[in-house]
Amino acid sequence: MTQLETYITENENRFLEDWKGWLRIPSISTLPEHAGDIRSAAEYAAEQLQLMDFEQVHLIETQNHPLVYGEWLKAPGKPTVLVYGHYDVQPVDPIELWDSPPFEPTVRGDNLYCRGACDDKGQTMLVFKALESLMAVNGTLPVNVRVLIEGEEEAGGESIDYHVRTYPESLRCNAAFICDTGMPSKEIPALVNGLRGIIYTEVEVRGAKSDLHSGSYGGVAPNPLHTLAIIIAGLKDAEGHIHVPGLYDKVREASEQEKAFWRDDPLHLNEALLEEMGVSQFTGEAEYPPLERIGGRPTLEVHGISGGFVGEGAKTVIPAVAKAKISLRLPPDLKSDEVFVLFERRVKELAPAGVEVTVRKVHGGEAVMIPIDTSPMQAAASALKEVFGKEPVFIRGGGSIPIAALFHEILGVPVVMMGFGLPDDNLHAPNEKYSLSQFYKGIRTVARFFEHIGE
Ligand code: BES
Ligand code: MN
Ligand code: MN
Repeated sequence: MTQLETYITENENRFLEDWKGWLRIPSISTLPEHAGDIRSAAEYAAEQLQLMDFEQVHLIETQNHPLVYGEWLKAPGKPTVLVYGHYDVQPVDPIELWDSPPFEPTVRGDNLYCRGACDDKGQTMLVFKALESLMAVNGTLPVNVRVLIEGEEEAGGESIDYHVRTYPESLRCNAAFICDTGMPSKEIPALVNGLRGIIYTEVEVRGAKSDLHSGSYGGVAPNPLHTLAIIIAGLKDAEGHIHVPGLYDKVREASEQEKAFWRDDPLHLNEALLEEMGVSQFTGEAEYPPLERIGGRPTLEVHGISGGFVGEGAKTVIPAVAKAKISLRLPPDLKSDEVFVLFERRVKELAPAGVEVTVRKVHGGEAVMIPIDTSPMQAAASALKEVFGKEPVFIRGGGSIPIAALFHEILGVPVVMMGFGLPDDNLHAPNEKYSLSQFYKGIRTVARFFEHIGE
């Protein structure tokens, strides 16, 4: 065993305790009542950086939640890696579906259950522990490191967007590293070389000036809920085709290699997807392989509809207002602002006369594609091979991490997206968890990744 491995093995329990301490702070970024918790979680991250002798450690105040910054730049001549993570988490509802309290980290088998166990406190903590281990064993790091952690990723990430665009000089680096993705299974290490962008919207329909008796006015009054149903039905058909004129115009052809991977599915990911979802067949664009639909095609989903009466029993009412949350995932070249304009135009066109429709942008972020033949990517691939015993696969993820595109564009560096999450980690859902063995292997892999970059 190397000294590094010995150190990691001997400190596993303390690493787990530090991780649990962070998880106990309910840092939900989208709920204003958790603003204090958000700050505590930021301070916790800053303490972790201070413990390993990082310099300039401080919270960067923003319009919303603070960023956490720290740097260690004492390896002259070595590359600088910018480490990103997020300390905010998703809300926990529906709380009754959790088997243990959402903010009490609980070990069952090889898993630690808690909101944020994976996304992204677990994955950020393992990067901290990789750095700590390198520092403890060598008294130095193999590369220069800047750390920038945000607290509003799950709420759209506006503050970090502003910070990166305004102060790119303060983030000068040779590569960025994001540990906020997953791998297809414990046996298949992966590097994510592409992510989709997103545009998240809220559509509001207003009819009469107040709720109405459906007997007295039914037949002559506008019904915003029904209007929403008509709009939604007009946006996407049963075959998964989105009817937003112009949307598909710019979709980029994938490489032959990617198309073959999606079509042939050598890792049998389709089977796994059906199993994960607990359904017997796929929906959507039948003319594209399922993996391409997730990785390379635009999609539109309705997340929630509100309005009218949803209680027990019956109430004969025509609602005055109805709302829907609708988002589109966007493959490379589809810009979120441009798509928003197309979407808004289409929604208004679909609305029948007699109602007032407004479309509001909640947040947006861009897709990213990262070349795989750069040295930081190869350093990550070597580290994964050493720890997991297999060459990693390069895959596109369907989810979105808007900061990846921004680092790529503004800082002009390769962005390595290497994470250790598993498909059954229940991200954003009840019983989120992270595998303990993935956590410890992640620490080893990330430590080796930094060493390779420094070579
Ligand atoms: N870590 C996820 C993104 C992710 C999930 C990447 C699964 C790869 C696999 C991230 O925290 C997230 O949830 N992003 C949001 C986007 C954001 C703008 C709200 C998403 O994808 O919905
Ligand atoms: Mn995340
Ligand atoms: Mn998330």
